[in-house]
Amino acid sequence: MPEYKNIVILTGAGISAESGLATFRSSNGLWNNHPVEDVATVEAFQRNPAYVHDFYNELKKELVKAQPNPAHLAITKLQKEYPAKISVVTQNVDTLHEKAQNSNIYHIHGQINQAVCQNCGHIIETFGDVDTQTVCPNCQVMGMMKPNIVFFGENLLYMDKVDSLLRTCDLFLSIGTSGVVFPAAAFVQIAKINGAHTIEFNLEPTSNNYYFDQHIFGKAGTTLPAFIDELIKNNK
Ligand code: OAD
Repeated sequence: MPEYKNIVILTGAGISAESGLATFRSSNGLWNNHPVEDVATVEAFQRNPAYVHDFYNELKKELVKAQPNPAHLAITKLQKEYPAKISVVTQNVDTLHEKAQNSNIYHIHGQINQAVCQNCGHIIETFGDVDTQTVCPNCQVMGMMKPNIVFFGENLLYMDKVDSLLRTCDLFLSIGTSGVVFPAAAFVQIAKINGAHTIEFNLEPTSNNYYFDQHIFGKAGTTLPAFIDELIKNNK
């Protein structure tokens, strides 16, 4: 294996599945039980903010209990033991990368433990409930806090930074994402046309098949640690 200098790791709900969290599009997935149009669009939040707050308050209770699994911990090991710049770009709103002490994490779809004031842009850390009565500690306006989750119809976060990471990486790993939500679904293409080696870790092939040089099928909690051990070993 060549020695890599810039590694980008894109993660999706599949990396958190072995921590007991439901993915979005599986048969018992979050979007089957809660239609996107009711809880994850700008219109839904404008129409019924109390309902949307309730949904994320409940989801938060579940997500904060979850613990990182061997796939998250393997990334920590890679970041400690492999001499490259290694960035984690995650679509997940859970905080399992943080709990595993990964570094250089970009939550492009937001994160469950934050709320953002729509009046002044102030972001608060919050592990408790947020609702239509919550007052922004910065501007003191009530009822303008929104879960810091990127809804369909909103721009993704950190995209300038992520774009430059994708254009300069020499290894791109995609872990546990179905590759159907853009723009994240196109990240592999950007990395590939800019010269990166691209590898997908998933239970099955995804719609982005064509741009991956390599597929590693199986549970990420098993396949990723094995791959990372090999990468570290070959570098010594
Ligand atoms: P999905 O639910 O669409 O896809 C999860 C993927 O993980 C699937 O391809 C599974 O095959 C795979 N998978 C499941 N368990 C796995 C395991 N143990 N090891 C490896 N792979 C496994 O979730 P995402 O692709 O993350 O957006 O969804 C992307 C976005 O759609 C989410 O961030 C969310 C949603 O709308 C927002 O909330 C803004």
